[in-house]
Formats: sequence, C-alpha cells, structure tokens
Amino acid sequence: MKKFIVGLTGASGTIYFKRLIETLKFIKCELYVVATQTGEEVFEFELKQNFKTYLQSLNYKYLHLCKIDDMFHKIASGSFQVDGMIILPCSMGTIGKIAHGTSDHLLIRACDVQLKEQKKTLIAFREAPLSLIHLNNLTLLKQAGAIIYPLVPAFYHHPKSLDEIISQIIGRILSYFDIEIDEHIKWQGI
Ligand SMILES: Cc1cc2nc3c(=O)[nH]c(=O)nc-3n(C[C@H](O)[C@H](O)[C@H](O)COP(=O)(O)O)c2cc1C
Repeated sequence: MKKFIVGLTGASGTIYFKRLIETLKFIKCELYVVATQTGEEVFEFELKQNFKTYLQSLNYKYLHLCKIDDMFHKIASGSFQVDGMIILPCSMGTIGKIAHGTSDHLLIRACDVQLKEQKKTLIAFREAPLSLIHLNNLTLLKQAGAIIYPLVPAFYHHPKSLDEIISQIIGRILSYFDIEIDEHIKWQGI
C-alpha cells in the first residue's frame, strides 16, 4: 500500500484537495493528512462543509489526521518512509515558510523532511499574478527538488464540466507518483 502525506493550506482550490483524498482512498493508499488553520477555514468557506466532519464522513481507516502542532508525529521525521508528499492547494505563505526552512509547524516540517530526504514532493500552488517574492520562493523550492505544479487547468481534452477539469489536474498530479487514473485524459496528439 502506497503511503502519502497530504497537506492542505489556505489557498483557494480546496476542491482539489477533496478530490485527491477521495481518489487516494479509492485506490487504497495510506494517508497522513495535515492542514493549516487557514486551510481548514478556506475548505469550510469554499465547500460549505466542516473539514474534520468531512474527513470523518469518509470513514477510511487508513486516513490519519495529524495535528498541525504535533512535532512528535512520525511524519516529522525522516526515518518514517512514505512514497511522497503533496500539498494541494499550497498558499504562497506556506511556500515562503518552506523555502526559508522555518519548520515551525508539522506541515512545513514534514515537507522540509521530504525535501531533505530527496523524496517526491509536489507543491501545487494557486496565486495570480506572481510577485518576485513568490517567484524567488518557488525557485528555491524547485532547486531543493520539489515538483512545482501551478493549478492551471488545461482545455485540450475539451472538458464539459468543472468535474472534468478537476479530474484532469488530479490525474496529472498523481502521474508523478506513478499512479494512473482513468479520468486522466492524456493529450495523444492530433
Ligand atoms: C478565501 C481565501 C482565499 C485565499 N486564496 C489564496 C490563494 O489562492 N493563494 C494564496 O497564496 N493565498 C490565499 N489566501 C491567503 C492565505 O490564506 C493566507 O496567506 C494565509 O496566511 C495562508 O496560511 P497557511 O499557508 O498557513 O495556510 C486566501 C485566503 C482566503 C481567506
């Protein structure tokens, strides 16, 4: 069973997080979920659903919700092996903290650990436009080995709904972790 750390922060696009979790549940991965305070609040604001109640409603025994201030959690240590970490969506605030190694809460520390251990770490950000500060921080993360994924939808697969746009992005993100899902409509050329 593949194991992932999934981070949620206070950027717009919490619907992607929801789809990611449901997809990883469907394919039976073990999940260590960690959310910032603002991540939980934006989730509730955008999806009109309480974050913790939502996770409980999944009734998934392989989902572990980690407390953001629990520095004793195993995901804070490089000796705990996972297949990778995905932060979706990732705010520019969190990107700045990771880029500068603050490690001051569990999500940032877990990401710091994955990067130092040279494990696959995908950071899916949403912001527009990007300032020089954002670009510099993203460059630092890229140099540290992260996969930098902008949450920008594609249209070459002719999506007919929001659902199809989200599926395409989740499929693309999971393909970096060698997971192929049916909804992932690849560009086959013309
Ligand atoms: C409704 C809402 C939407 C937001 N969207 C974004 C966003 O798309 N990108 C971003 O970088 N910050 C966004 N923010 C700002 C972040 O939530 C804010 O910088 C926060 O401090 C991030 O904290 P965190 O990184 O600990 O989650 C948004 C805030 C709110 C309330």
